[in-house]
Amino acid sequence: MALEKLVKPHILEIQPYKPGKPVEELERELGISGAIKIASNENPRGASPRALAAMREKLDEANRYPDGAMFELRAKLAATFGIDESQLTFGCGADEILELLAKSFLGPGDECVYAWPSFAMYPVVAKGMGATAVPVPLDKELNHDLPAMAAAVTDRTKMVIVCNPNNPTGTSFGAAAFDAFVKALPAELILVVDEVYWDFARRSDFPDTLACIRERPGTISVRSFSKLYGLAGLRIGYGISDPELADILDRARHPFNVSRLAEIAAVAALDDVEFVEETLSANAAGAEYLAKELTELGIGFWPTDTNFILARAGCDAYERLLHEGIIVRPLAGFGMADCVRITIGTADENERLVKGLRKLSEAAQAGGAA
Ligand SMILES: Cc1ncc(COP(=O)(O)O)c(C=O)c1O
Repeated sequence: MALEKLVKPHILEIQPYKPGKPVEELERELGISGAIKIASNENPRGASPRALAAMREKLDEANRYPDGAMFELRAKLAATFGIDESQLTFGCGADEILELLAKSFLGPGDECVYAWPSFAMYPVVAKGMGATAVPVPLDKELNHDLPAMAAAVTDRTKMVIVCNPNNPTGTSFGAAAFDAFVKALPAELILVVDEVYWDFARRSDFPDTLACIRERPGTISVRSFSKLYGLAGLRIGYGISDPELADILDRARHPFNVSRLAEIAAVAALDDVEFVEETLSANAAGAEYLAKELTELGIGFWPTDTNFILARAGCDAYERLLHEGIIVRPLAGFGMADCVRITIGTADENERLVKGLRKLSEAAQAGGAA
């Protein structure tokens, strides 16, 4: 059947999202065991133990639909952030919040401005609604070029997305730059601040997006339980916005878009202070260790404000690390063929990566000397 005659043309413009290679696939391909994956910015410590225990206790309730209103999690998050419950929207991952935003606000003729390289789903959700994707290159230091993004706004722009800290670069922008950017934007557009990695940010001047939401309706912070809490497999994320925007997204979503177990896990994870503290301190130590080792190996990298690090390891680094049983994220698809994105792993994983990189660099030196 010639489906190209039936499909909406803008769907064919979308480049399908390429997820990181699964460990099992690499092990099958190479006939090895013990491969490690430090490619998808998951929590290397596993899932929050409190979340796991809470889910185990409630497994028997899998026959019941979830609470579509998300009563418990809504109340808990509202109390955590000192916001009104009506400001929250829940989704099947932060991905679904992005999808709901596109579904609600974008259509043919509309423009969506975002930085590039950044999260690969922005063009996917914008093009999926027939809107025009308007990528604005990062600056030389691979930071968001916020003035250039503001300048890219036209009277067709309905949505601007910034990602802070940015994926795949790990770079972040501070409050002064963000405030100037917000001031430069027209009031009548949706400002999406993707803060899926905000929990890891260490800079003291990290923007206060919740204050911005109070002052600028039409702003939303998009967050996730996938990273810090280790619940990526459960698929649960949320948006914080003004109630009017949340009400619009609520109309666009499916009634039971977040599973019962995901909600139970998220509620428990918020209380898992020990796990959160351990994760953050191990991540900070891992970032420091990798920065030191990469420097010693002479591999360029960008300062990271999150749980992964962008390194200029060479065009063949991805493939060659695979042969060492190490999966990192190749960035050729982002126009950075000589870079890889490395999730900060456990201490063992970080050491294994450094050993792998050292082997690559020794092989390159031996090749150069021959
Ligand atoms: C910047 C960014 N936004 C959104 C997401 C989606 O997060 P979730 O797992 O909650 O759908 C990711 C996932 O990696 C991401 O890196």
